[in-house]
Amino acid sequence: MANDQEKEAAARASLRFIKDGQVVGIGTGTTAAHFIQLLGELVKNGLRLRGIPTSDHSRQQAAALGIPIATLDECPQIDVTVDGADEVDPELRLIKGGGGALLREKIVASASKQVVIITDATKRVPVLGRFPLPVEVIKFAQAVVLRKIEALGASVSLRRQADGKPFLTDENNHILDCSFGQIADVEKLARRLSDMPGVVEHGLFIGMASVLLVANGSEIVELRASNK
Ligand code: 5RP
Repeated sequence: MANDQEKEAAARASLRFIKDGQVVGIGTGTTAAHFIQLLGELVKNGLRLRGIPTSDHSRQQAAALGIPIATLDECPQIDVTVDGADEVDPELRLIKGGGGALLREKIVASASKQVVIITDATKRVPVLGRFPLPVEVIKFAQAVVLRKIEALGASVSLRRQADGKPFLTDENNHILDCSFGQIADVEKLARRLSDMPGVVEHGLFIGMASVLLVANGSEIVELRASNK
């Protein structure tokens, strides 16, 4: 099964977590885009919900499909969020932010009773760190933060768009992509990054995923977090 079909299959499997009348967090990325498409079909068929998108891009896709959009001010408590991930380890810790939406994604996940992560099989790793960890920084601080993260042993690059200009997040910040290789102590690294002045957020999502749905060929593997 092709990678994109696996993403679609994982997205389809997540639909059973969505119930009528709920507030639904809407993820970002190519896998989440499949979810949004399928959610749009449910709404067209009469499902009532309010969606909280994790990016401007996802908001545009959802709105174009007729999905009612709400803000966190209107709905600060989310019933269920469905989102993708760049890496998932056996404890359902994640690296996210490949699509640049990690800040809003983490805020939405933190406000959600249940977080369902949908991926294809390539995203499962025994140890996080093969994927460069995205760290969102305010522009003023980026050179200082870059040096500090390099001092932790990572090779760090400022994310750029195709035209060479720095990538801008929806909150108008920059992203440093930090290649650590295998991360030995995920919690410790998360703390150290959070403690750096100028770091807005990092892409380590710890203790946030409730359920992981991985499409592996035609099979869907479901894993549940032990603490949820
Ligand atoms: C965006 C994300 C995405 O969920 C992550 O990058 C996975 O994307 P895709 O489904 O396209 O592989 O964290 O910030």
